[in-house]
Formats: sequence, structure tokens, C-alpha cells
Amino acid sequence: MSFAALRASARRAGAAAPAARASRTALRNPAFRKFSTEVPPTPKKSSNAALLGALGAAAIGGVGFWVYTSSSDSAREAGTAVKSGVQAAKVAANYVPTQEDYQKVYNRVAEILDSAGDKGYDDGSYGPVLVRLAWHASGTYDKDSNTGGSNYATMRFEPEAKHGANNGLNVARDLLEPLKQEFPWISYGDLWTLAGVASIQEMGGPKVPWRPGRIDGFSAQCTPDGRLPDAAQGADHIRNIFYRMGFNDQEIVALSGAHALGRCHTDRSGFEGPWTFSPTSVTNEYYKLLLNEKWLWKKWDGPKQLEDKKTHSLMMLPTDYALVQDKAFKKWTKAYADDEQLWFKDFSSVVARLFELGVPSQQWVSSEPWILKSSDEK
Ligand code: HEM
Repeated sequence: MSFAALRASARRAGAAAPAARASRTALRNPAFRKFSTEVPPTPKKSSNAALLGALGAAAIGGVGFWVYTSSSDSAREAGTAVKSGVQAAKVAANYVPTQEDYQKVYNRVAEILDSAGDKGYDDGSYGPVLVRLAWHASGTYDKDSNTGGSNYATMRFEPEAKHGANNGLNVARDLLEPLKQEFPWISYGDLWTLAGVASIQEMGGPKVPWRPGRIDGFSAQCTPDGRLPDAAQGADHIRNIFYRMGFNDQEIVALSGAHALGRCHTDRSGFEGPWTFSPTSVTNEYYKLLLNEKWLWKKWDGPKQLEDKKTHSLMMLPTDYALVQDKAFKKWTKAYADDEQLWFKDFSSVVARLFELGVPSQQWVSSEPWILKSSDEK
């Protein structure tokens, strides 16, 4: 080699040295390695960012690869980083979750339901408030304008989160947020409705068919206040609200049986107390109690509600009471009080439909809904 060539080579090596050091540091740095080898699955909407990020990492790795071509081990490591960075970016960009992935989300919801017990929350389960979240996310649907429903998860945004009917649902949304971080590919609408389904199944209710496909929307898609029912009203109001969603009288009564679960909170709705003695179990007790107990208006400072004459510990809202006052509703209240299996069957299909309101059919990832496994089947 000539002297000039040697000097040029030394200059190249000198210029390359800082880059080589930086690259070696980067390869040892666990944060870098984590990123270039384990890019987490990312939802489609942010796939470009993920792709760019991972390709950025690949580009850094590419510098390393160029610098290290003559040093075998490091070169292999750098080469692997380049390849896995690109590979991970591709996976992230095209990530298509399977039914098994959604079952994993279901399983995590099932795991966290009872953490309410440790926190001294309500009756020891987050199930009821998660069912209420799924219902309020879906029950804003208006069939005439084809707006609202579970598609865009617009309750994440201020106008809708602040609607009076949604008071207290921050508890449910906040509870699910760590799951959104754990499974970043799931949309909020899918997560909320899946959590509702998991809660119903885990609290002993029927299997509820469910499928993914909802997408996250924008605050501009928030629905106007007043689409959810006002508990202080009667039969006419309930019909107006639920007919608007596309349900009939039988379906209104079947859906209302969800009040077997949970309780009212004075700091959320102003009402107070549970509907049944077993507020964390899905049973047809709500209908039985409505028919068989004597209900009196509660004498208190709060909004008009009823209490059972015998124990004064249970409650009914004026809208619940309409299900025994209105003849057409009462027929179904009786049918469901007499036959829990009939109610399970009808509740399962109507609640599945409720949770799908507002989602364009082309968005569903499968033509038929799935039945996810309950934790006692595993
Ligand atoms: C006429 C229709 C309805 C009215 C007026 C109504 C009203 C209410 C009210 C006022 C509360 C108490 C909220 C609180 O203070 O925490 C409540 C709770 C609840 N609602 Fe409804 N609701 C209706 C229909 C439904 C439907 C269709 C479902 C589900 C399919 C449902 C599921 C629940 C559940 C599970 C709770 C308990 C939440 C908890 O324990 O935190 N409701 N509802």
C-alpha cells in the first residue's frame, strides 16, 4: 500500500472512530436493544410512526453495520439489530391480532375484576361499572342519523365524559387504561365492550358473542348530551330512548335485567343503593324482586326512588318500576322472572347487539361474532 493510501485509510479510520464508539454504546445500551429487537405490537393507526421509529433504529444499526464489517462478532450483532429492527417494524405495521390475542385481553379483564375487593370498592367487583361503561359507550346510538354507538369510543373526550349520565365512569375507563398500554393494538371501543362482555361472563352470566372491529375516533364525533335514559322518567321516555337505538319492548325489558348488577351512588347519579342482594352475580333476581316485593317511595332528601318495604335496603329507579307498571313491559318482566334461562338467552343476544351499535359492518374482522372462554373453562 502506498503512503498516500495508508494516510487516507488512517483518516477514514479516524473519522469512523467516534461513530463506531457511538454505535457500540448504542448496541450495549439495553434501551436501544429493547427497541430494535422488541418493538411492541402497535395499532394500525400509529403504524407509520412505529415504522418510522423502527426504521430509524434500523438506520442507526445500519451505521453500526457499515462500521463493523471487518470485526466479525460486532458486525453480526449490528447486522441482527438492523434485520430485527426492520422485521419488528414490519410486524408493527401489519400487526393483525388473532382471536387468541383478544382472549388474552379478556383474561386480563377477568384477573382485575376482583382487585376491587382489595381496594374496598363497592361490593368487591369492578364488573358492574365495566358493564355500565360498555352500555353507555354503545347506548348513544341513533338509528336515524346512524351516529353514536360503540365505534369511536367518544366518551374519552371531554364533552361526552362530562355528560351527567356518564358520572363515575372514569373509574371504569381508568381501570382499563393499563390494559390499553399492555395491548396497544386494541381500540378503546373494542376494549370497553370486551371488558363488558368479560364482566357479564365472569359474574356468572350467559356467554355474550363479541367480535372486534371498532376504531378510535375524534372528539368531533362525540354525541350530544341527552341520548342516554333519564332514570327519573317513565315508560314513554324509555321507549323513546330505546326505540331510537332500534330496540323493541321485549328487548328493553331484557336489557334492563342488567340492574341485577351493581348499585347507584349518590356522588354519581344521586340515587342510592343496589337493586338486588347479589349485586356481583348475573341472575334474574331483578325481575323477581320487581314483581314480588312491595315497593314504596323512599323518604329522603335525594331524587325520587323506591325502596323495598321489607328491608329498606334495595332500590328501584322510576324507570325500573315502569317495567311492572306498563302492561306490555310487565308481560316480559314476568316471563324473565319465571325463567332465568329464557332471560339469559334473550339478554345474551340483545346485549351483543347493543355493544355492536354504530359499527359499520365492513369494519368487523370476522363475519360471525366469537364466544370467548370464561376463566373457569381454562
Ligand atoms: C332505562 C334504562 C336505564 C336507566 C335509566 C339506567 C340508570 C342507571 C343509574 C341511574 C345507575 C346508577 C349509576 C350510579 O349512580 O353509579 C345505573 C347503574 C347501572 N346500570 Fe343502568 N340504566 C338503564 C339501563 C341499563 C342497561 C341497558 C344496562 C346494561 C345492559 C345497565 C347497566 C347498569 C349497571 C351494571 C349499573 C351498575 C353500575 C355500578 O355498580 O357502578 N343499565 N343505571
